[in-house]
Amino acid sequence: MKITWLACVYSLLCGCYISCNGRLPNIFFILADDLGWNDLSYHNGSDFVTPNIDTLASTGLILNNYYVQHICSPTRSALMSGRYPIHTGLQHGVIAPDAPYGLPLNEVILPQELKRSSSVNYTTHMIGKWHIGFFETPYTPNIRGFDTFYGYYLGEEDYFYHNRSYDGVSGYDLRNNLAPIYEANNYSTFLYGNITKRILEDYVNDTSENKNPFFIYLPFQAVHGPNQDKKKKKKKAPQQYVERFSNITNSDRQMLAAMATVMDEVVGQLIETLHETNLWDNTLVIFSTDNGGPQSSQRNNYPLRGSKATLWEGGVRGDGFVTGGVLNPSRRGQVSNELMHVTDWLPTLCEWVGVAPTNPEILDGQSQYEMIQYGKPSPRIEILHNIDPVDCEEIICGGLRYQQWKFVIGTEVMSTSVDDSGWVPLSDANETHPTVQCNGKQPVFNASSELCPFNGKGCLFDIINDPCEYKDLSLEYPDIYDFMLQRLILYNRSMVTPLFLLYPSQPDQANPALFGNFWSPWVDQQV
Ligand SMILES: *[C@@H]1O[C@H](CO)[C@@H](O)[C@H](O)[C@H]1NC(C)=O
Ligand SMILES: *[C@@H]1O[C@H](CO)[C@@H](O)[C@H](O)[C@H]1NC(C)=O
Ligand SMILES: *[C@@H]1O[C@H](CO)[C@@H](O)[C@H](O)[C@H]1NC(C)=O
Ligand SMILES: *[C@@H]1O[C@H](CO)[C@@H](O)[C@H](O)[C@H]1NC(C)=O
Ligand SMILES: *[C@@H]1O[C@H](CO)[C@@H](O)[C@H](O)[C@H]1NC(C)=O
Ligand SMILES: *[C@@H]1O[C@H](CO)[C@@H](O)[C@H](O)[C@H]1NC(C)=O
Ligand SMILES: *[C@@H]1O[C@H](CO)[C@@H](O)[C@H](O)[C@H]1NC(C)=O
Ligand SMILES: *[C@@H]1O[C@H](CO)[C@@H](O)[C@H](O)[C@H]1NC(C)=O
Ligand SMILES: *[C@@H]1O[C@H](CO)[C@@H](O)[C@H](O)[C@H]1NC(C)=O
Ligand SMILES: *[C@@H]1O[C@H](CO)[C@@H](O)[C@H](O)[C@H]1NC(C)=O
Repeated sequence: MKITWLACVYSLLCGCYISCNGRLPNIFFILADDLGWNDLSYHNGSDFVTPNIDTLASTGLILNNYYVQHICSPTRSALMSGRYPIHTGLQHGVIAPDAPYGLPLNEVILPQELKRSSSVNYTTHMIGKWHIGFFETPYTPNIRGFDTFYGYYLGEEDYFYHNRSYDGVSGYDLRNNLAPIYEANNYSTFLYGNITKRILEDYVNDTSENKNPFFIYLPFQAVHGPNQDKKKKKKKAPQQYVERFSNITNSDRQMLAAMATVMDEVVGQLIETLHETNLWDNTLVIFSTDNGGPQSSQRNNYPLRGSKATLWEGGVRGDGFVTGGVLNPSRRGQVSNELMHVTDWLPTLCEWVGVAPTNPEILDGQSQYEMIQYGKPSPRIEILHNIDPVDCEEIICGGLRYQQWKFVIGTEVMSTSVDDSGWVPLSDANETHPTVQCNGKQPVFNASSELCPFNGKGCLFDIINDPCEYKDLSLEYPDIYDFMLQRLILYNRSMVTPLFLLYPSQPDQANPALFGNFWSPWVDQQV
């Protein structure tokens, strides 16, 4: 039986977007890893070459004021739960390979929301990086709402061998559902692309009458480290791609350009598959990065200030866009400057498919459905960037956006290195960046202990007029400074203790040698 996919219509009956054959839209969520603001060529200043992603962005809706968390596990937990990391205990650092905690099991996460009822019952697939906890089997994707999982549990690993060394021990980390697998010499971006392609083809080949729509979550390994082992001259991207970028003088940056181009090609092939199979018309495609680029290892956020792991804009303002046949035609080719945060995806997608979130009262995310589809104003005027109480030497350590104002204070923005807290232009590229107007040349980076933020006080910026965080306004607007500080302290009252402090690492128990050389859930001895 041949299924004809028709254009989508908004149903007044269910208050949701459905196709004429009664099906809910498929959802295809692509997450890049450590991809900086200036690591996609569509921001017009990059030396990376990503034509497929650029075209998807420019023919879709670019989310130009889209924010993520400053590092990996916090962003992934916020995406999955719709909650700020201070409310789930993941506000400090990333989850280490031997840390016995994860995103708490009482959180109802996105794939679970999407398969809750007989009418909204998505088939859910995850391909790629998890990194929100695996110490015990119930924390792993297959038990948390994903029907299928092909990928890895930790934060990083070798792109070809899929293994990771940590704290003197080493193990493989690749699984097909719960089963550990070896897949030597298959470059992860191609591997995950091929698996995803097969899922799409199988879906089309499935001729059953009432098949469920799909939710595909594809968190790529690219372009996270490791870059390149200089001593062993080991490449972290296929050689023929690296050679294409011999015009980039920095060898790490050259490697990264190759990694980004491979990802771009795979994205291009998957989008082509969506078109060839006629799935495109009924699919919502979302692209996001997980955090800003780590500039010390040659990812780039210019002209934004700062890096991954800081609360400067370079750490938290993310690449993001929406496209697919389900996107309202009047929104295509547009750039949205509405404020959005990664916690918003859960309520947004719930509204899109017509299911109420299980625990709406505890969500920090707000639905952006009307903003994305109809150009309505964002319901959001505020973003808590983070609060991290670990090793905090100020009254509080964190960051908050409220309307045009941004307040940052403490250790998370205190790094005195230019890479982490300054502005780092690329030497090889033209810096035009029409999506961020920074009004002039950046100031010289000066980590003097007399200057904010290095003097122990908070800094205040007007992000709308100063998106590159050039001018601290804390002395000019003392009332706003106080308002922002008090608001951050108010958020602090709802913070839970970081799981990092409650659950110390268990290197002996977690050692992969105990589990056939695979990093494995060690508490319930799953091999
Ligand atoms: C480097 O070469 C690639 C193609 O070989 C080209 O697309 C890119 O624009 C070049 N980059 C720079 C910085 O010249
Ligand atoms: C969702 O669909 C699957 C597969 O058809 C089925 O087994 C399951 O019972 C359905 N879930 C609900 C809540 O109806
Ligand atoms: C990964 O496996 C390869 C091949 O066995 C080996 O050469 C490499 O040292 C391993 N790397 C790690 C990080 O364990
Ligand atoms: C890599 O994995 C894909 C997907 O399983 C497979 O189709 C392909 O043949 C593999 N390539 C190599 C070189 O093993
Ligand atoms: C599948 O893998 C091959 C290499 O094994 C690669 O050339 C191809 O681009 C991949 N396709 C996708 C969709 O990832
Ligand atoms: C599934 O569909 C693809 C094309 O979409 C086709 O090439 C393939 O042979 C089909 N596989 C099966 C098992 O039917
Ligand atoms: C920068 O722009 C100039 C003028 O448009 C052009 O000639 C040059 O090739 C560009 N350089 C790079 C590295 O793209
Ligand atoms: C990048 O520059 C091109 C050519 O100047 C322009 O058409 C395009 O809109 C710019 N992209 C963005 C995202 O602003
Ligand atoms: C950095 O700022 C301090 C305090 O304003 C000033 O004394 C010092 O000269 C500056 N250093 C540089 C290199 O500009
Ligand atoms: C923030 O909360 C922690 C406990 O959760 C508390 O120890 C600390 O004093 C609070 N800070 C402020 C400034 O209220």
